[in-house]
Amino acid sequence: MKRVKKAIIPAAGLGTRFLPATKAMPKEMLPIVDKPTIQYIVEEAIESGIEDIIIVTGKGKRAIEDHFDHAFELEQNLFHKGKIELLKKVQESSKMVDIHYIRQKEPKGLGHAVWCARNFIGNEPFAVLLGDDIVQAKTPCLKQLMEQYEKTKSSVIGVKPVPKNETHRYGIIKAKAASGRLYEVEHLVEKPEIEMAPSNLAIMGRYILSPEIFTFLAKKEIGAGGEIQLTDAIEQLSQIERVFAYHFEGTRYDVGEKLGFILTTIDFALKNSDLKRPLRDYLERVLSEEAAIDNL
Ligand code: UTP
Repeated sequence: MKRVKKAIIPAAGLGTRFLPATKAMPKEMLPIVDKPTIQYIVEEAIESGIEDIIIVTGKGKRAIEDHFDHAFELEQNLFHKGKIELLKKVQESSKMVDIHYIRQKEPKGLGHAVWCARNFIGNEPFAVLLGDDIVQAKTPCLKQLMEQYEKTKSSVIGVKPVPKNETHRYGIIKAKAASGRLYEVEHLVEKPEIEMAPSNLAIMGRYILSPEIFTFLAKKEIGAGGEIQLTDAIEQLSQIERVFAYHFEGTRYDVGEKLGFILTTIDFALKNSDLKRPLRDYLERVLSEEAAIDNL
């Protein structure tokens, strides 16, 4: 059985939910406290044992490449000013594993973005991590999926239950058999309406996939939202190979939409030793002022 060594991070989407902020800046570079979202994702991949990462970029995404490169002038400036702690932080992102880039010329959908990286992957199982979901867990989320991949020797998708009225926002699985947190997938459907959803188990942006997936992505079939969907290709893959879903442990943060992004920022700031106290004081003051107004 081949080990999972490579990961794809698709980052070529338009990020329309954050416009106008994402007009000239990639949504993957929006920071949670002081680190861009995509760095959390790269760190999870590295902590899970990934050796090579390919980021799928597109128009207006240069900042991502710059972030993971050396910033010579900035580093010199910090060094001369003796700001060594800051210098270390800046250098962290450029000292990560080998990161490669490929451009998706048009944002035709997640399935198409993954397909763009096919030559880099070759004939090996690989991981896909989306920047929309940050997961905080004792064992990194992707590592949990890798452990399941080693047991099942099959593709494994990360899932979490969501409220029924939110199924239209996710890829949803129908499970055939379950053992603990592991499910065997019977069907998958992208963004079903509430009455069509086969369950409330939603795909959460972490995948281990067999290279056979490229056979189906190559068909470039258009799915939900007029885009080439990864979920549709996995559905076809599940008809010829076993596909599993794993309800991973840990807290999942939805940073792909505004409210989720704000809540994630607050949560991470409350875990930061410098920010915890002043933020808590501020929130308590705002909430008590709100309550006072409500009681007028
Ligand atoms: P999303 O649908 O959440 O990202 O795709 P988006 O399209 O950029 O965001 P909105 O909906 O317009 O606000 C999930 C991930 O897949 C990437 C995105 O960059 C994001 O990280 N993606 C999506 C691509 O790389 N290419 C695409 O064609 C579509």
